[in-house]
Amino acid sequence: MPDNKISTFDVTKIRNNFPVLNQKIYGKPLIYFDNGATTQKPQVVIDTMSKLHSEHNSNVHRGVHYLSEQMTEMYESARKKVQDYLNAQYSHEIIFTSGVTASINAVAYSFGEAYIKENDEVIVSEMEHHSNIVPWQLMCKRKGAHLKVIPINAQGELLLDEYKKLINSKTKLVAIVHVSNSLGTINPVKEIVAIAHKNNIPVLIDGAQAIQHQKVDVQDIDCDFYAFSGHKAYGPTGIGVLYGKERWLNEMPPYQGGGDMIDRVRFEHTTYDDLPFKFEAGTPNYIGAIGLGAALDYLTGIGLDNIQNYEKKLLDYGTDKLTALNGLKLYGAAGNKTCIFSFLLNNIHSYDVGMFLDKMGIAVRTGHHCTQPLWEHYKVEGSVRASLAFYNTLEEIDYLCEALKEIQKMFK
Ligand code: ALA
Repeated sequence: MPDNKISTFDVTKIRNNFPVLNQKIYGKPLIYFDNGATTQKPQVVIDTMSKLHSEHNSNVHRGVHYLSEQMTEMYESARKKVQDYLNAQYSHEIIFTSGVTASINAVAYSFGEAYIKENDEVIVSEMEHHSNIVPWQLMCKRKGAHLKVIPINAQGELLLDEYKKLINSKTKLVAIVHVSNSLGTINPVKEIVAIAHKNNIPVLIDGAQAIQHQKVDVQDIDCDFYAFSGHKAYGPTGIGVLYGKERWLNEMPPYQGGGDMIDRVRFEHTTYDDLPFKFEAGTPNYIGAIGLGAALDYLTGIGLDNIQNYEKKLLDYGTDKLTALNGLKLYGAAGNKTCIFSFLLNNIHSYDVGMFLDKMGIAVRTGHHCTQPLWEHYKVEGSVRASLAFYNTLEEIDYLCEALKEIQKMFK
């Protein structure tokens, strides 16, 4: 029997915090392996948000009344929690957005307006999510600039020598994913930033698949922007974060105009509020932000090191088991990766595998996972992706392997 316990981490206890996991799908116990798409919510996040709606709801930064002041205080305290979680220097470097997509679009627009001109270049990589490609393409089109792409090797690792060759005097920004959502590759972001900074080029990091798996310290990485989504880190949907160094955020124009982001509005001329409000037009998702704060407290309470150690155990166990399965081809074999298994089974279409797994109670994602250029590299349409979280178990991996063998038999 696989042993699911490691010193200070008991997965059975952890699972009890996630009510959604305790159910049957088509009469089979749910095995939730679609954590790359979204993670489940611990009871503390569910309770926090329910209590906010039933006891505290009021708009922030606007009222002189008790409820509004109370909510404003909780909202700003959630900002402080994100600051601590990322080890940002100032809390006003934390902008609440609706998610990574909104965060990257905000930088693509505002940074583009401030600094990009015709024939400038932005560097991304071959393993980017569409949300770290398309906003830059839109900006490049607007400004007459160009996108350059860092290639990867067969294991799904960035070719850093090729990256260095792409940098030149026209390069104005590097936008790179911290952890690949399709392959699990953990990119050496600190090194990538150091190389860019040697050339005075700022770096944005898409942390959508990193923040929930490992400690992220933006001052240590020294990145200029870091983006992540709440719902992928055990928090609510519709809330996300853009961290930006004060200097850039101060220099960049606002992305959207509206209430809360202004200082003084006249028809002739408007001045903007200070950071972070300059980038938070309209009523913010304050309940989502406070819910995210509760999720980050929950993760900190368990300990990112404990989470990382346990997930490494899942990764090693799953890699061994899946590699031993005849007819299964794994994509993504980086030396440094998170617990994501992307694979194809014989010549069976990923949708078919996904649909049969579903009938056995196993939730996976199939298709291109919003990284079409990456799959072009491998010359396939996509994969079956089992993306694990720290509430998954070794037994669930065993069950996946047995289910895959069943599917092979059916297709024989
Ligand atoms: N970006 C999310 C994923 O990888 C939706 O599934």
